[in-house]
Amino acid sequence: MSEAAPFVDIQNLQVCFTGGRKPVQAVGGVDLQVKRGEVVALIGESGSGKSVTLRSLLRLHPPRRTVMGGSVRVGGHDVLAMAPGALADYRGKVASMIFQEPLLALDPVYSVGAQIVESIRRHEPVSQAEAHKRALELFERVRIPSPERRLAAYPHEMSGGMRQRAMIALALACRPQLLLADEPTTALDATVQIQVLLLLRELQRELGLAVIFVTHDIGAAVEVADRIAVMYAGRIVEEGTARELIRAPRHPYTMALLHSRAHGALAKGSRLQTIGGSPPDLSALPAGCAFAERCPMALDVCRSTRPEVVHLSGSHRARCLRTADTVATT
Ligand SMILES: Nc1ncnc2c1ncn2[C@@H]1O[C@H](COP(=O)(O)OP(=O)(O)OP(=O)(O)O)[C@@H](O)[C@H]1O
Ligand code: SF4
Ligand SMILES: [Mg+2]
Repeated sequence: MSEAAPFVDIQNLQVCFTGGRKPVQAVGGVDLQVKRGEVVALIGESGSGKSVTLRSLLRLHPPRRTVMGGSVRVGGHDVLAMAPGALADYRGKVASMIFQEPLLALDPVYSVGAQIVESIRRHEPVSQAEAHKRALELFERVRIPSPERRLAAYPHEMSGGMRQRAMIALALACRPQLLLADEPTTALDATVQIQVLLLLRELQRELGLAVIFVTHDIGAAVEVADRIAVMYAGRIVEEGTARELIRAPRHPYTMALLHSRAHGALAKGSRLQTIGGSPPDLSALPAGCAFAERCPMALDVCRSTRPEVVHLSGSHRARCLRTADTVATT
């Protein structure tokens, strides 16, 4: 793979869940590229497809009840086409995920140290002693105090912040190049959230990781991300650098989400605004723009024409028919 190619290249990703009464088109054409060492935040209201997009990068959806389309390439791997054996090698070693709730990711019946050692030895032919040494280094790296003693602890014996650090250590155990983080700090209290986010940013710089993380905290997105992508009804509706997006949003949905910026600084902890109305039914998406029913700028044409991506400047792009009219309002 050439150095110039993005490490993550998602083209026209489609994810449709077919297990229910009607098919649910959770992701309907996502394009996203992430370079090595770049941090991208995914934001958007509940149900917009952030977690489904993230999980697609590890192909974690139930295979018999999911139809996926488009392409997902990570570090040259064709994720949607990989055979089960190759997929198992890829998970953890090329890309790994940290979740909102570490208790769901960590096994309650094994010590955290044993889980890290097991994960390393599953992927690499190293001795127990060598794997233990690596686990200890990882605990030091994520700044767990008394790391040797804590390696022997079970997940329930750790505090929430410590467990989150342990899960980060587990995610990094096999030296992945892509880290996926689904609301990694939401379950923690505010000061611990900041510590964990700063730790993630530091590790990302140190290890040159590509990171995609989901957050509802716009301040955290601005602080930690190089780029922000805004999702609505299974598509990215606006994308740009944190600065472009916050200073000059061009999609009416992003503008509504960021409305709070007019009333004060975007400190860490600023939550995304809730906006009137509800998102469309993903099993019966409208023919035109999915945001039309809630959009203060909607015209008749918006209800019949599905907006294509408009390239604005630099990496800034928006999926809206009226980007020419949003310039003056920024
Ligand atoms: N396995 C599944 N089977 C059926 N529908 C699913 C499945 N997983 C997700 N969905 C649906 O896909 C849509 C997108 O879900 P997703 O979890 O990606 O939302 P999200 O943006 O992460 O929201 P939140 O902010 O609440 O985490 C939702 O309507 C959800 O109910
Ligand atoms: S295309 Fe129309 S309805 Fe959709 S966001 Fe733009 S102005 Fe609003
Ligand atoms: Mg989610």
